[in-house]
Amino acid sequence: MSIRILGIESSCDETAAAIVADGREILSSVVASQIDIHRKYGGVVPELASREHLRRIVPVVREALENAKLDLREVDAIGVTHGPGLVGSLLVGITYGKTLAEALGKPLVPVNHLEGHIHAVFLEAHKAGITPALPAVCLVVSGGHTVLYEVRHKDGRNGDAAALWSYRKIGQTRDDAAGEAYDKVSKLLGLGYPGGPILDRLAAVAGDVRPPVKFGPTKIKGNAYDFSFSGLKTAVLYHLRENPDYVPEIQAREAAITKGERKFDQLLPLCSPKTLGLVKEFQNAVVRELVDRTTRAAEELGTPTILVSGGVAANRQLRATFEERSAALGLKSYFPSLALSTDNAAMIAAAAYPRLKNHILADVSLNACASLPLA
Ligand code: KG4
Ligand code: ZN
Repeated sequence: MSIRILGIESSCDETAAAIVADGREILSSVVASQIDIHRKYGGVVPELASREHLRRIVPVVREALENAKLDLREVDAIGVTHGPGLVGSLLVGITYGKTLAEALGKPLVPVNHLEGHIHAVFLEAHKAGITPALPAVCLVVSGGHTVLYEVRHKDGRNGDAAALWSYRKIGQTRDDAAGEAYDKVSKLLGLGYPGGPILDRLAAVAGDVRPPVKFGPTKIKGNAYDFSFSGLKTAVLYHLRENPDYVPEIQAREAAITKGERKFDQLLPLCSPKTLGLVKEFQNAVVRELVDRTTRAAEELGTPTILVSGGVAANRQLRATFEERSAALGLKSYFPSLALSTDNAAMIAAAAYPRLKNHILADVSLNACASLPLA
């Protein structure tokens, strides 16, 4: 008989619920995005996020159960994200998870959101019948995080879904997360929020257009596996300030977005070749930083595998570059599908499974932790 975990995720701006069997098989996964609510503010507004989670949590859990054709009583445990994230948002999922666990008399499993992102890669690989070799270097790269971990199975039981994992943080951003840099640069260019998806597509059509500016590698003193993106964002800002000819097209794009014309096909005609060149150069720089530092860590630590997860892992150039570089170095790199790259609850239910099997449970005193460390 399989063990079915209901995962609940509400750490930022997606209300999500999913049912995963034995930590591997996704029976359902429902994500209610709040992007349309936060878009006009250019980022997530915490008060609005928690209010929306409150509105969405019950129907989202109900839909996850319906899609899996299960009754609440048929669920074996509840896994819930308890950090890191926005406290007001986390508390909605935690309170609902606790209530369900108490009412049903089922175990409550606390899950770290970042551990969830790492499990998303394995969920995807298992769908294809692959067990990535551990130890691995894992890059979690999203709007809130840019962290590098060394990942192992605690007791060396590779491939066993019930085995606990161990994590060692080996690098992190010293300032902005990579997704945050995408979002800020997109805002500077009048391209709206979130920035990653639109900049990804614009960079892809830039072709061989000559970049109007060059961004060299970021110099970081100390840990070679740390990241920094605020200098790059500032370099874009200064370049725009020094070149007032960008102003009319930025204003035209802002006007289009205000009218709701934010689709790629609507924004592309409003971008000059110079802007496309700038976007491409920005993306080249972000991808170079992420790929160089991550592959360097894998080589130096002698890990055969690279795992990449989080919203920015959806970036096509990032995926292609990781794949090329890994192949050249004799490493393997793995990504989740696009749906599992961004925040979801299937990854939370998957991460809850080994914890449940090893009796790492919570009680009604479980609280939200904004900066919960993974390692
Ligand atoms: O993991 P996620 O959904 O939420 C957080 O935990 O932050 O990641 C959202 C972030 C946003 O900053 C968004 O701009 C970025 O991921 N993103 C991308 C792409 N798709 C989403 N960045 C680059 N390229 C993409 N295709
Ligand atoms: Zn996330």
